Amino acid sequence: MRKKIALIGGGQIGQNLAMLAAMKELGDIVVLDVPDYVNPVKGKALDLMEMAPHGSYDANITGTSDYKDIEGADVAIVTAGKPRVAGMSREDLLSTNLKIITDAANGIKTYAPKAFCIIVTNPLDAMVYAFYKLTGFPRNQVVGMAGTLDTARWRSFIAMELGVSVVDVAGTVLGGHGPDMVPLPRLTTVGGVPLVEIASQEQIDKLVYRTREAGTEIVKLFGKGSAFFSPAFSAIIMAESYLRDKRRILSCAALCEGEYGIKGLFIGVPALISAKGVEKIFEIKLSDEERAQLQKTAEGVKKTVGETKL
Ligand code: LAC
Repeated sequence: MRKKIALIGGGQIGQNLAMLAAMKELGDIVVLDVPDYVNPVKGKALDLMEMAPHGSYDANITGTSDYKDIEGADVAIVTAGKPRVAGMSREDLLSTNLKIITDAANGIKTYAPKAFCIIVTNPLDAMVYAFYKLTGFPRNQVVGMAGTLDTARWRSFIAMELGVSVVDVAGTVLGGHGPDMVPLPRLTTVGGVPLVEIASQEQIDKLVYRTREAGTEIVKLFGKGSAFFSPAFSAIIMAESYLRDKRRILSCAALCEGEYGIKGLFIGVPALISAKGVEKIFEIKLSDEERAQLQKTAEGVKKTVGETKL
C-alpha cells in the first residue's frame, strides 16, 4: 500500500508540496483546506492527476475540506495560515494563525494520530510548539520546517557570492526562524575549504545579514504573501527523510530538552530525521559568541511562545 501524505493548507506552499510529493512518488496525497477554498484545492489536485503521465508518477491526489479524508496519513505537513504582507513580522501573525493551528492539531490528532508532523505556519517556532502542546504527540513526531530553509538560503547566497556550485557548499543555520537566526560561518565549507578562509569578513557579514532577512526580502518583492518554492522543497526533503528512512541530518525546529542549554522550546538545531521521526539532536560545540547568539534567539522564541498561553 502506498504511503499517505496529508497537506493541511492548499495555498502557494501547499500546492508546491503536492507537486513535489507527486514528482518524488512519496505516496497518495490529500490536500485539505477550508470549505470556501475546497473547489480550488480539488482543482489543483485534479490538475496534478492530469500531469501524472508526463511526470511519470502514480499517486492519487485529492482535495478536501473534511479531516476524515486524511485518516491514517503517515505524514502531515501544515502550511495553513495567513502569510505575511510587506511591513509585517512573522510574530504579527500569531493570534490568527494560532486558531488555524488549533484546528489542524485537532483534526490530525483525531484522524492521523501516528503521522509525522511537519509544521510550516508562521511564526514558526511558536506554531510548532503550540501544535505539540495541543496534540500531546511525542517529541519525535513533531518538527518545524525553518532551519532547512534557512540553511538552503545560506548555501545559495554563498554560492552566488563566490561564484561556485551550490552543491559544494555545506553548512548550517541554528536558532529561531527570524532575524536573530544563527548562521555558522566557522563551520561552513565550500568543497571542503573553510568559508572563513575564502571569503572576507565583510562578505561573510553580508551573507549572514541576507540569510537572516531572506524571507523578508521576498515578502517585499511580492508585496503580499511570502516565499513558497524553497519552503515547499525544504519541507518535502524532511518528509522524504522520514518516509524513506534516509537519515538526513537537517536543521529543524526540534524540541530541545536541555540541548544547547535550551529547555522546552522548539528551535532550529541539527536533527537526524529517520523512520523514527526526529531520532536525534546533535549538539555542536559552539564558540562563546555563537552560544550568545543562540541564547538571544532562544529568548525571542520564548517570548513569542509565551504569547500562545499554552
Ligand atoms: C519565509 C517564510 C516561509 O521565511 O517564513 O520565507
